[in-house]
Amino acid sequence: MSPVGTPAPAPAAAHGHPASKAYELLTALSMTVGRGPAARTTADLAELTPHDRVVDIGCGPGTAVRVAARRCAGATGVDPTPLMLRLGRWLTTIRRVPNATLVAGSAEALPLLDSTATVAWALSSLHHWTDRAAGLAEARRVLAPAGRVLLVERLVEPGAHGHATHGLTNGQADQLAADLTSSGFGDVHTEIRRTGRRTLVIVQGTRTNGG
Ligand SMILES: C[S@@+](CC[C@H](N)C(=O)[O-])C[C@H]1O[C@@H](n2cnc3c(N)ncnc32)[C@H](O)[C@@H]1O
Repeated sequence: MSPVGTPAPAPAAAHGHPASKAYELLTALSMTVGRGPAARTTADLAELTPHDRVVDIGCGPGTAVRVAARRCAGATGVDPTPLMLRLGRWLTTIRRVPNATLVAGSAEALPLLDSTATVAWALSSLHHWTDRAAGLAEARRVLAPAGRVLLVERLVEPGAHGHATHGLTNGQADQLAADLTSSGFGDVHTEIRRTGRRTLVIVQGTRTNGG
């Protein structure tokens, strides 16, 4: 799966004040901790085989990319934040994970050719996407026919505030399932899984033919 196109521009915060850089670094480092259970659960649900090619949309420092790469033919992580990519590439190198690539891009403009992935997943990144319809269209474009999409978020309570809103309520998961269906995915279904200290909601679908 060869990445193509122009890398997405770095977000403004990446060029900001030293304090914001320190905050960014802490955020990126925090995303290397405790992400394994969700990554492995997602890979299990995707039923990865050695023939699969995975794209991880909003990969952060790449935990799930490395989990995928150990189980399949190749995994590409896409993320718009340069620091996440730098950290992820370093971790991928020192852990000697083969077949894992991290590239700049966003859900709304995936730097991948059409029909080059068999699995597209997003772990805790969907709530950052700026345009869900564009992101789902991109996931569909890069997936081969019958390719699977898995959108994974923390299950959150309605009426939550602050960080506790970073996820999906049951009602929002229902809406996401409806959005997947209208974006050209079939066999759409939702699962709730407990992993580590988190409860995850996973909305899955299969790319339909045509269109
Ligand atoms: C909470 S982190 C999750 C990282 C990783 N998937 C994980 O579970 O460890 C969210 C990630 O989404 C990325 N992100 C932000 N906006 C995005 C967009 N429009 N498309 C794709 N990813 C985005 C951020 O840079 C960040 O790395």
